[in-house]
Amino acid sequence: MGAGVGIGKAIAYRCAEAGADLELVDVNQKSLETVKEELSEFKVDIGIHKVDVSKKGEIDALLRGFDGNAPCVLVNNAVIYPSKKFLEVDQAFLKKVFDVNLNSAFRMCQNMIEQRLNKGGIVIDVGSIEALLPLKNDLAHYSMSKAAVIALTTALAKEYARHGSRVNAIVPGGTLTQGTKKMMKEPYKLNLGLVKTGLQFQMRLPVGRFGQPDEIARVAFFLVSELSSCVHGALIVVDGGFLSA
Ligand SMILES: NC(=O)c1ccc[n+]([C@@H]2O[C@H](COP(=O)([O-])OP(=O)(O)OC[C@H]3O[C@@H](n4cnc5c(N)ncnc54)[C@H](O)[C@@H]3O)[C@@H](O)[C@H]2O)c1
Repeated sequence: MGAGVGIGKAIAYRCAEAGADLELVDVNQKSLETVKEELSEFKVDIGIHKVDVSKKGEIDALLRGFDGNAPCVLVNNAVIYPSKKFLEVDQAFLKKVFDVNLNSAFRMCQNMIEQRLNKGGIVIDVGSIEALLPLKNDLAHYSMSKAAVIALTTALAKEYARHGSRVNAIVPGGTLTQGTKKMMKEPYKLNLGLVKTGLQFQMRLPVGRFGQPDEIARVAFFLVSELSSCVHGALIVVDGGFLSA
């Protein structure tokens, strides 16, 4: 899910390159078509599905379409991260963030685990360092949603490992994607707080640079491969050393 740009697209690229057939899901039809076109060199089957994962009805229609043959790998990556002051967050806003970032992952995991009980399946949830060490202001709603995604990962790993599911989370740090570029650009001129956060981020970061989407995708690729056959319930931080600094 969320395969149209950024980290999701990079994961799709790595998997297609390795010969995997893909079912790509995103709310943005145009970016899905672009990804499909870009991956056509790999001669794998690629289905694209325009789905707003915040809408349960759309997710359910997608899942019905698989007709009991859910893909054996699920990547829960779709996200929104709109900034909003904590005191201004209302129920509708919070619901939207949770529906996209968390409830979609919950529903997809439920369905995939059900369909692949004792057959084997791999789930990769995508968390965030913001869930563990919030750096930027006005993202409490996002941090909460990602903390819950991590909790979902560890709970399902414990409960379903014996039923054939391997469930792990990647926890990215600052990674240069369409989403982060947009966030950096928009209010930059007006928002000194954001400039300060950017500087603090750079100063703390041992590698001194943002990650690239493919640096997350390579870890995802490890997690879908047999190389990680005993990795269950792991939170794999890919943050250039940010949390450890
Ligand atoms: N980029 C970073 O610095 C960073 C840091 C920590 C964690 N992450 C996590 O990595 C993942 C990917 O982040 P990114 O930066 O590549 O994001 P992005 O904003 O660049 O891309 C997100 C994708 O999700 C899709 N999407 C958004 N709403 C959707 C909806 N309702 N239904 C279906 N698809 C929807 C978008 O169309 C887009 O293709 C996210 O889970 C994010 O929390 C990213």
